[in-house]
Amino acid sequence: MNREKVIVIDFGGQYNQLIARRVRECNVYCEIHPHTISLDKIKKINPKGIIFTGGPNSAYQEDSPSCDKGIYDLGIPILGICYGAQLMTHMLGGVVGKAPVSEYGKTDLHVDQSSDLFRNVSTPTTCWMSHTDYIETVADGFKVIAHTADCPVAAAENIEKKLYFMQFHPEVLHTTEGKTMLSNFVIGVCGCAGDWRMDSFVENAIKSIREKVGDGKVLCALSGGVDSSVAAVLLSKAVGKQLHCIFVDHGLLRKNEGDEVEEVFTKQYDLNFTRVNAQQRFYDKLAGVTEPEQKRKIIGEEFIRVFEEEAKKIGTVDFLVQGTIYPDIVESGIGNSAVIKSHHNVGGLPDYVDFKEIIEPLRDLFKDEVRRAGLELGIPEKLVFRQPFPGPGLGIRIIGEVNADKVKIVQEADHIFREEVANAGLDTSIGQYFAALTNMRSVGVMGDERTYDYAVVLRAVNTIDFMTAEFAELPWDLIGKVSSRIVNEVKHVNRVLYDCTGKPPATIEME
Ligand code: XMP
Repeated sequence: MNREKVIVIDFGGQYNQLIARRVRECNVYCEIHPHTISLDKIKKINPKGIIFTGGPNSAYQEDSPSCDKGIYDLGIPILGICYGAQLMTHMLGGVVGKAPVSEYGKTDLHVDQSSDLFRNVSTPTTCWMSHTDYIETVADGFKVIAHTADCPVAAAENIEKKLYFMQFHPEVLHTTEGKTMLSNFVIGVCGCAGDWRMDSFVENAIKSIREKVGDGKVLCALSGGVDSSVAAVLLSKAVGKQLHCIFVDHGLLRKNEGDEVEEVFTKQYDLNFTRVNAQQRFYDKLAGVTEPEQKRKIIGEEFIRVFEEEAKKIGTVDFLVQGTIYPDIVESGIGNSAVIKSHHNVGGLPDYVDFKEIIEPLRDLFKDEVRRAGLELGIPEKLVFRQPFPGPGLGIRIIGEVNADKVKIVQEADHIFREEVANAGLDTSIGQYFAALTNMRSVGVMGDERTYDYAVVLRAVNTIDFMTAEFAELPWDLIGKVSSRIVNEVKHVNRVLYDCTGKPPATIEME
């Protein structure tokens, strides 16, 4: 398909995915390629524009990442960002050196408003700087179009050759008008139409799935999470009853979740849907097991076994659907399409299931785009905006041994917590929040009776990437209300704790 595209060339910067996202926010399709991409491949892709990312190296060092010099003669507009700016300068004969003052953080930027790059940008404006090298002298043909107090060349352009660069990072939100600048490049300079929309994605995806699948049989493991749900619905819209979805209920889902998933997929869409109620099988396997990694392993393996048994009943299929999304691919090495995300990260692919090919209909999308596609496909908001939920489910939110009674306690407590967070209007602003069971029992008093019951812990965190997180400062009255509802409404709980540890040193989940 020949759609309008901008490519990002990766020199190892930390914001590379962000650049691609920002371009897509201009409704222009964008993908990331390694800096080793050949000129031929670029010509084949035929992008409307190219963006060089930042990176940790010094452009003037011999072994630093570089690219084919022919790229500058393709006539395709190029925007270099940070390291990309320095590399472009260095390769074209300008001078890059160690900056007398390295800049880090928000900085006042003075721009030449007559440049196409800075149309509708104010001056001074705030930009985000992060560099120790700087551009001492621009290459021939370049005109400086922005500076800061410590950076004489903060942006420059060579209009004739359609080459542009910025020393700062327009892709991070701290550059307050960075979005306008990127849009000026992508739409203004590159001449993109900006017509990449979710409805066209959905339409095209359905068309190409149909072509690929023909009258073949397709199998999908549904976890009820966003990615696998959107993938399944896309497939069902494309090939209807040729799709078989298997939903394994491992008894470690949140309250009512299994029924909600079943309801959506049996009432709303036309596909073959099998729910396997394997709760007891999982509880039996988990009986007496307390070690977290062992629990995870058991849940993962059992999931695969149940899935395999069901798949066997369906027989040979032609395709297996995976809900792989773009960050999975980028994080596991660009272009390394062999890396496969397991259906919900619990244990890898079933080795026996007989299929010819994998279909990954979401492999070009970021998470928020998957959500938009989901809405476009009519999947209920509740499912589309579901919080991250680990594959092993409540199994890792119950410290120590798991059994049906404990699952019930944590389901009820978690349900109350989520209900009250939503009532307080905070459900879309907290990163992730849930209740967990500490496995600790303590003495309490209820009515005139002594109790010896469990303590439930509430966990709420804010995070950007889930690699680090801060505990969320929920209002005390909210915590108080949740606490009193839980001890009153959930049997066998007499104490509620609030987890105020970040990650690190804790993790988000309990196990
Ligand atoms: P931790 O506990 O490692 O969690 O700080 C980070 C994020 O990952 C989620 N998580 C998982 N997701 N399978 C998943 O799909 C898993 O096994 C798993 N373990 C943790 C967790 O909910 C949080 O968002």
